[in-house]
Amino acid sequence: MFDKLLRKKTTAVPSTLQERLAIVKEKPVPTHVAIIMDGNGRWAKQRKLPRIAGHHEGMKTVRKTTLFANELGIQVLTLYAFSTENWKRPKLEIDFLMKLPGEFLSTYLPELVENNVKVEMIGSSDLLPSHTKEAIQKAMEATAHNDGMILNFAMNYGSRFEVVEAVKTLALQLSENTIQLEELTEETVSGAMMTSHLPDPDLLIRTSGEVRLSNFMLWQLAYAELAFTEVLWPDFNEESMLSIIEDYQKRSRRFGSLEGDEIK
Ligand code: IPE
Ligand code: IPE
Ligand code: MG
Repeated sequence: MFDKLLRKKTTAVPSTLQERLAIVKEKPVPTHVAIIMDGNGRWAKQRKLPRIAGHHEGMKTVRKTTLFANELGIQVLTLYAFSTENWKRPKLEIDFLMKLPGEFLSTYLPELVENNVKVEMIGSSDLLPSHTKEAIQKAMEATAHNDGMILNFAMNYGSRFEVVEAVKTLALQLSENTIQLEELTEETVSGAMMTSHLPDPDLLIRTSGEVRLSNFMLWQLAYAELAFTEVLWPDFNEESMLSIIEDYQKRSRRFGSLEGDEIK
């Protein structure tokens, strides 16, 4: 019941947005969008609420953004949910953040299934509490056969950690002679990353006005278009996303060449 009400409320995009959406969909949209969801704490502070209230509100933005990205025809949406550096935060905040995947998925999993969304995760699950691991595992299993948009959570993810792990894998293969030095190429390195099965992001979005990568997908973002917005993550909405995609479609991605007046 509650779920139905929510669905009605947030999927009803105003007509002007619908018109803009239709125009955007006529041009190529980014295949893979990665988002650094930042600003939950400041959102809460502005309202004199505890930081966790911002994280809870941010969870609703995850749902809204997922549905809208799906509507846009984006194929992979990677969301930075918890970094390897976020363990430095107070335990109470970490505990709350670790409960969010469970809450998000128990509330919205049916809707994700309905929308043919496939849930995946990058990052190390080793340090995650078992309830967090189980919630993500359950969602991955329930959506394993979906072939629509991939919703990829970066959870306990750190790009440098990922690179170190990839180096270890490749070093082991070299020492065991299963690969040769000449076979170490950009492709084999990409293949050793947690994103081996995904295309690199075309577009990186960071909310909250911070202009840094915070250890996120350093290898994969080599040629991504970057978009930074002042909007705090809980306030990020369909309009914010659409404006960024409209701007993206005006850019010229040359990849070092002189060609490409239009986005490819
Ligand atoms: C992003 O919001 C969520 C996570 C990093 C888990 P923050 O919690 O970083 O919010 P600010 O940056 O303090 O406002
Ligand atoms: C990056 O945000 C991590 C996530 C969004 C999960 P942070 O708020 O942790 O990054 P810094 O500390 O501002 O670099
Ligand atoms: Mg932050």
